[in-house]
Order: sequence, then structure tokens, then C-alpha cells
Amino acid sequence: MNKIIKKDQFSEKVFCLEVEAPLIAHSCKAGQFIILRVDKHSERVPYTIAKADDEKGTLTLVVQEVGLSSTKLCNLNEGDYVQDIVGPLGNASEIKKFGTVVCAGGGIGIAAILPILTALHDAGNRVISVLAGRTKNLIIMEDDVRKESDEVIIMTDDGSYGEKGVVTAGVEKVIQSEHVDRILAIGPPVMMKFTSLLAKKYNIPNYVSLNTIMVDGTGMCGACRLTIGGKTKFVCIDGPEFDGDLVNWDEMFKRMGTFKNVERKEMEHYEEHVYPTPQPGQDVK
Ligand SMILES: Cc1cc2nc3c(=O)[nH]c(=O)nc-3n(C[C@H](O)[C@H](O)[C@H](O)COP(=O)(O)OP(=O)(O)OC[C@H]3O[C@@H](n4cnc5c(N)ncnc54)[C@H](O)[C@@H]3O)c2cc1C
Ligand code: FES
Repeated sequence: MNKIIKKDQFSEKVFCLEVEAPLIAHSCKAGQFIILRVDKHSERVPYTIAKADDEKGTLTLVVQEVGLSSTKLCNLNEGDYVQDIVGPLGNASEIKKFGTVVCAGGGIGIAAILPILTALHDAGNRVISVLAGRTKNLIIMEDDVRKESDEVIIMTDDGSYGEKGVVTAGVEKVIQSEHVDRILAIGPPVMMKFTSLLAKKYNIPNYVSLNTIMVDGTGMCGACRLTIGGKTKFVCIDGPEFDGDLVNWDEMFKRMGTFKNVERKEMEHYEEHVYPTPQPGQDVK
């Protein structure tokens, strides 16, 4: 079991959890993720490692409440335990000196892109971060991103913070004002698709981090398979980062909706019979 040692609330539905996982904290690299089970009966859910502290032996996860597992996780508090954490999983992000890299983070994707932009900055790249959200309070971890970026552009759909507009408007502004060598987009699939299409229009190499449905995270179950460049790939072992130009986005959107009805039913059941917070050794039904 892994203990939650710190919990912060970033916005109404987004929580930041620091959990003990010393072996993973010691070996993980930017871009990798873990798979977590909240309790014995929970499904296995992937979360990106937003930060890792080798000295403290902890991982920072930023979790958005969207359904049953994430709600159960966000209902836990400091001192509580999760059942288990497996990782680090997936390939680390490719880090080298590319030149100028635009890192576009949408919503919860900001947490996922933070370790990568940090590593890119450390490798000597000029990092321009474009953070986007529907409204001001959905722009998370801004101070962390500012520390590791040469420039930060903030976009909100409603104009409540930064500039009014979607992420692609911010990215295009950068492309039109200076040479860009690479674009990395992490966020909701629709945001990654349109950022990738924009990059393609300007012939800029672009990468996205895919968040397909995952089960085992080790290449055994096939749940995360997706067509990339005409070939079947497993996001958990071949990714999660892929060349955006090669992603079959229609297939990605279709697969993301596969379990929608089951997930909604499970959530309704949970809301009717709210589970108690599990304690170490306690089995929650
Ligand atoms: C590599 C990777 C990294 C991720 N990193 C983060 C992160 O840092 N923070 C964060 O909040 N979320 C992250 N996610 C998404 C997260 O794993 C889950 O999608 C989310 O917590 C939903 O679970 P749920 O049971 O609460 O919702 P559900 O009601 O079960 O599902 C809501 C939607 O979430 C997606 N989903 C559900 N289960 C999974 C699953 N096992 N794998 C992938 N997607 C699923 C589906 O699109 C589904 O329609 C990541 C996903 C992947 C694959
Ligand atoms: S999650 Fe099972 S093969 Fe990728």
C-alpha cells in the first residue's frame, strides 16, 4: 500500500496528491506514468508522474475527477493509503536539444507536460509553454511551468485569464513570430488532434501523449491498442508519446467512448452507496 502524504486542491475537480513510492521515484523519467488501484476492488487507472522526489521517495500525481476511480482517489486524504501503484510505465519522453520547443498543455495535461518541459529546458532548449483551459481556475501549476519556461502564454476559452481563445490560437501566434523546431501537445484528445493538425500545416514535427483506455499497462491485454502510421501499436509499451501526424484520431475518439455506459452506471452506483475511505489493511467492498 502507498501512503498519501500531501493533498492539495487545484480547482473544483482537480486534486494534487503526493504519494509514497520510493522505488518508482528513484527510477522514473519525464513522460512516464504509473497505474494505480485505489482499493482492492478498484480498476487499474493510469496517471502521469507530474513530479518525482527521489530524496523523499514520493510521486506527485494530479488527478481530475471524471468518473468512479478518480472520484474515489480524490476522496482520500493525507494519511490514507491507496492499494498499490505499478510503475514506472511507458517510454520516457525524447529529451535532447531540438532548439525552440512549444509545449502546449491543456487542462490536466499541464501536469503531464511539466516534467517534460522541465527536462527539455534543462537540455538547453528554448521552451515556450502554452497553457490552456476553459476558464481561469482550470489553469493549474502555472508557477511551476513559469520556472522552467522561457516564455509562457495563457489561453482561456472565456477570456477570464491570459488571452481569449483556444490553445491552437496561442501556438499559431508563436509559430508566426519565430522559428519553432518541435511542438509537444498534452491534453484532451481533441486539443491534441487540432494542435497536431496545426503543426502539420506548418511542417513542424509534433508529438502527443495519448491517454487511451488502459488495463494492465504492460502490453498483455491489448486494451490500449491504436493505429499509428498504419500499424497497430500498444500505447502502454510503444508510447505514450507518438508522432501526432501518424495518429488515427477517429479511432482514438471511438475507443475512448467504448466503456462510457458501463462507467456511468458504476458512478451512479457509487454515488448511491458512497464507499468509506479505506485504511491500511482494510478491505472495502
Ligand atoms: C498514460 C495515461 C496518463 C494519464 N494521466 C492522467 C493524469 O495525470 N491525470 C488524470 O487526471 N488523468 C490521467 N489519465 C486519465 C486517467 O487514467 C483516467 O482516464 C481517469 O482517471 C478516469 O477514470 P474514472 O474511473 O474516474 O472515470 P471513468 O468514468 O471510468 O472514465 C471516464 C473517462 O476516462 C477515461 N478512462 C477510464 N478508465 C481509463 C483507463 N483505465 N485508462 C485510460 N483512460 C481511462 C475514458 O476516456 C473514460 O471515458 C491518464 C491516462 C493515461 C492512459
Ligand atoms: S494497457 Fe494492456 S496492452 Fe496496453
